[in-house]
Amino acid sequence: MRRVTLSQFLVARQRDKVINADLRLLIETIARACKAISTRVNKGALADGHGGLDTSNVHGEVQKKLDVLSNEILLEANEWGGNLAALVSEEMENPQPIPTHYPRGEYLLLFDPLDGSSNIDVNISVGTIFSVLRCPKNADGSYCDANEQAFLQPGRHQVAAGFAVYGPTTVFVLTVGDGVFGFTLDRETFTFVQTHPEIRIPADTQEFAINCSNARRWEAPVKRYIDECLQGKDGPRGKDFNMRWVASMVADVFRVLSRGGIFMYPRDAKNKDGRLRLMYEANPMAFIIEQAGGEATDGRTRILDLEPHGLHQRCAVILGSKNEVDRVTSYHQ
Ligand code: AHG
Ligand code: MN
Ligand code: MN
Repeated sequence: MRRVTLSQFLVARQRDKVINADLRLLIETIARACKAISTRVNKGALADGHGGLDTSNVHGEVQKKLDVLSNEILLEANEWGGNLAALVSEEMENPQPIPTHYPRGEYLLLFDPLDGSSNIDVNISVGTIFSVLRCPKNADGSYCDANEQAFLQPGRHQVAAGFAVYGPTTVFVLTVGDGVFGFTLDRETFTFVQTHPEIRIPADTQEFAINCSNARRWEAPVKRYIDECLQGKDGPRGKDFNMRWVASMVADVFRVLSRGGIFMYPRDAKNKDGRLRLMYEANPMAFIIEQAGGEATDGRTRILDLEPHGLHQRCAVILGSKNEVDRVTSYHQ
């Protein structure tokens, strides 16, 4: 079988006018940075500077060395390419404009440099999530200032989204709005090779993912849904369910893309707005899931229609197989 690399895939998309040259180069750059992060993640405890004290990020959360390093790798890779107006990440309080000595482009990049970082030290899959928006224009056609306001667009405006999982293999999952495609890192040629063409999520599933330690704090609709799943064959669902929770969204979502399932991080009495970040976790994953035939809501509203009010705002997330997401969402009504 002829191998299609990520680069070939992107050139073909450009020829078909699905993406332009700038977006192609931007995605290539992100993928290259993901390869560098993958190499670093794979070194594990052998890497220089591994261990040492963890710091804390702008949200007061524990920040691992690799969170910082992954952020730096993505920033450095992306600032000089000429396709971006600004970028922002989980590890940065404010957007970073492109330095004035580099050309400025039309896109805005948002990312979670290392997702699932509590799993690094225990050798469980982690990843990188990214979202690409267009920088809005002024009435005269010039680009707006690439400040926080420019980023605050609903997820349906994304022009590309993707994620990498650094697991037993490194995979790179991408949508540019015409389906979802997965690429596996070939460590001999150090290229991403298409291994998952046209990913589709089955509409039905018997597998759910949720952190059950929050059960006592869930809202009634989520309690009801999980309770019905747990009753299995003897309950109203009439079938047994399986449960999985990796605690790295990238790995949980990749499983949903691979064999169906429902993934939830709902709001609860402690995480009143949910736990995951709208702009660089929920939105890109929702775009990918919808492009693969699944659905993503916050229980009440389609994630991609949420109007953002802050770069780092959180939201509840219910995504995956269509019929299950419909069911949980209907329980909220
Ligand atoms: P991050 O490491 O970027 O902060 O994200 C971790 C997220 C997500 O990947 C995962 O689904 C969730 O947090 C896990 O939360 P719990 O530890 O509450 O299970
Ligand atoms: Mn994350
Ligand atoms: Mn992170």
